[in-house]
Amino acid sequence: MDKGHALILDDEADIRELLSITLSRLGLQVHAAATLAEARQLAGARVYDLCFTDMRLPDGNGHEFIELMSRQYPETPVAMITAYGNAEAAVQALRAGAFDCVSKPVDLNVLRNLVKTALKLRAERAPGSAQPEPRLLGDSEAMQRVRATIVKLARSQAPVLISGESGVGKELAARSIHEQGPRASGPFVPVNCGAIPTELMESEFFGHKKGSFTGAHGDKDGLMQAAHGGTLFLDEIAELPPHMQVKLLRVIQEKTVRAIGGRAELPVDFRIVSATHKDLARLVETGAFRQDLFYRINVIELRMPPLRERRDDVLLLANRYLDRLAPEWSINRPKLGQDAIDALSRYDFPGNVRELENILERAVALSDGDVIRASDLHLTPRTGQQSAVPADPMLAGTMTSHLAASSGTPAVAPPSPHRDGLETYIDSLEREAITKALEECRYNKTAAAKKLGITFRALRYRLKKLGID
Ligand SMILES: Nc1ncnc2c1ncn2[C@@H]1O[C@H](COP(=O)(O)OP(=O)(O)OP(=O)(O)O)[C@@H](O)[C@H]1O
Ligand SMILES: [Mg+2]
Repeated sequence: MDKGHALILDDEADIRELLSITLSRLGLQVHAAATLAEARQLAGARVYDLCFTDMRLPDGNGHEFIELMSRQYPETPVAMITAYGNAEAAVQALRAGAFDCVSKPVDLNVLRNLVKTALKLRAERAPGSAQPEPRLLGDSEAMQRVRATIVKLARSQAPVLISGESGVGKELAARSIHEQGPRASGPFVPVNCGAIPTELMESEFFGHKKGSFTGAHGDKDGLMQAAHGGTLFLDEIAELPPHMQVKLLRVIQEKTVRAIGGRAELPVDFRIVSATHKDLARLVETGAFRQDLFYRINVIELRMPPLRERRDDVLLLANRYLDRLAPEWSINRPKLGQDAIDALSRYDFPGNVRELENILERAVALSDGDVIRASDLHLTPRTGQQSAVPADPMLAGTMTSHLAASSGTPAVAPPSPHRDGLETYIDSLEREAITKALEECRYNKTAAAKKLGITFRALRYRLKKLGID
């Protein structure tokens, strides 16, 4: 069974032998080198599907080998063998372009998973394997750079921290990294670290055994087990409470998890991609986030540029969104009037792409014609002056609560202590009025809309926003 060729570079004969035996058992043909010079020669002789290198070598070091390979044979994954507990070496190797790291003594399970993932890279490059259509749209230079970086990042197993403001596409970026990498056929498990109640977090992350606490009626797998073979996406990582930060660090180091009430440490194999809209480095300085965990999850940072730094993308994104919206709502494809185009290209989008989508959705819902005018967009003035009481309470509720609901932080309005109360209040008024009208019209939406003095589209939009069925 020829699964491919592997190259091992280590000056210790014992390690070479152990790796050779293990890799042969996995069906690989193994070539071994004791020095950088030998490895260089072997690398020139044929194509390898996977390489391993030690850190210290008699005539150089592993980094030189990684650099050589990524320069001359960028398709070949190179894994670094590091000393146990040497996080710094592992992080450095990954930053230099290593595919992954294994620590000595080599855990056979970890090694097997690594080989499995690495060999999938070859299958992926095989002719005929289609690349998924990019999720992140935009022709701006900044966006092209992001996409190119993602292609590179996707190949490695290095933990990535995606940073950027609210609504810039951090989750889309995480999904792209997963889909374009060797774990694409495995699960993508998104976890919103800010949304799980602290007391449930451990059980949600690690799972539990029957009877381990009141209410644990059966065995339950956690998110970490669910992500096995795939990618664990830790969204809003800054919200992870301190005790979970410690536990996550352990999982990263040991690559095993133990369910609550369970005895065994079970091996797990997933790639970690995290995201935050906060300045995590700053939280490390203030002590709110552990330095050691930050170091491990932030091996490579991917910064998603805000929309106002790539204005060229606004129109394209807007049009693609309208293309999508029209069939969904069974309406004619709305067009953007020139005045709307001008207004959009001047606007700053503090809530980024999500805000753009919300603005368009609202404009389509509230305008009657097929052309969206600047006045339909209801853009907040850039100066940030906001009238304390909105002129049209229904519209104001629509604007702010919808944005706040779809994102952790209000996208448009600066947070104010009274805002949430007002929003909830307006929402409840709206809900009451709509429910009443629907009841009076025997749930005929067209009639209810008429009664409320709004268009059918506007009613449908509000029903969706308020979650009324
Ligand atoms: N480049 C892009 N191309 C197409 N759609 C995009 C792009 N960027 C963002 N979007 C869309 O914008 C919305 C917000 O994206 P996403 O949820 O990935 O942002 P986020 O950075 O995770 O936001 P938050 O910080 O609020 O969680 C989604 O509907 C997404 O589809
Ligand atoms: Mg998000």
